[in-house]
Amino acid sequence: MEVTASAPGKIILFGEHAVVYGSAAIAIAIQTRARATVKSIPEKRILINARDMNLIEKIPLDQKAIEFKLKERKMLTPILNCFSIIMQQAELNHGIQLELESDIPIGAGLGSSAAVSVAILGALNELLDMKMDLETISSNALEVERSVHGTPSGIDNTISTHGSAIYYKRGEMQKVRVPFNIPLLILNTSIPRRTGDLVSLVRRKYISNRSVFNSIFQAIDKISSKGRFLLERGRLSELGELMNINQGLLDAMGVSTPPISDIINEIRSLGVLGVKITGAGGGGSIIMLCSPRNTRKVARRLSKSHDIIQTSLSSDGLKIEKKME
Ligand code: MEV
Repeated sequence: MEVTASAPGKIILFGEHAVVYGSAAIAIAIQTRARATVKSIPEKRILINARDMNLIEKIPLDQKAIEFKLKERKMLTPILNCFSIIMQQAELNHGIQLELESDIPIGAGLGSSAAVSVAILGALNELLDMKMDLETISSNALEVERSVHGTPSGIDNTISTHGSAIYYKRGEMQKVRVPFNIPLLILNTSIPRRTGDLVSLVRRKYISNRSVFNSIFQAIDKISSKGRFLLERGRLSELGELMNINQGLLDAMGVSTPPISDIINEIRSLGVLGVKITGAGGGGSIIMLCSPRNTRKVARRLSKSHDIIQTSLSSDGLKIEKKME
């Protein structure tokens, strides 16, 4: 049997970092997706072919070999940890071939590692008839996220599994109804960084200034609640205003950098409603909200010197694309 499953990337509209400390955040699934195709093979190995990541690997199907490989190639962490988890929960008496494709840029703050994990776990769930529900797939993907970057809040795996837009706080999610086609423009700075490093940076700053950071996190919690209210009513310019405030607070947390500030100022000069980092910061991606009549013009102007992704909300989370006996 052969199964293809896909899962979306995401943007965080409000609340990154603060969500790790229990504040609310809002995430939106986007149209860019990771796709995993798995099939059983007689040889007792895991064959991995991930062209976008430049990875072709052949690994014996046992925990020790996986651990050894993990030390050797960090890039394989999300993929192999998915297999580790599955091998603890199901008996595998055959090998598996995995083909991975992804439109989500890696290290850009768009949830690529969570989408890859959710797609692989979803595909293996179907192939091995494991009957995991979405909650179990999401919590297994959270385990994988922990191995990739330490202390994730759980928002990335949750949005990638469920799709649409979510309000997320302390491990609980509520769907947010977005009654209009929200125009999403993303600028990928292509400045590489690791989410785990940025989360640790904020942790260090938090430890040396707890009460100040608690106030910042409280303000962001309020931004997310108000943002949810405005999102459900399509009040774009007020949402933009909140994005600008959230960006100021991210700057105060130390996850913006001079090159990011330069790009943000350039974007502001084009008259957008709101602009901010999305995800961990330190590089990665910047999102902006424009009035519907301005979106294409802004995209065109920025495309001359930046990598721009024009996308929209994806209501699909984890999806089985194909199943062949
Ligand atoms: C990463 O997409 C968002 C962060 O808040 C980390 C997390 O919530 O796990 C920076």
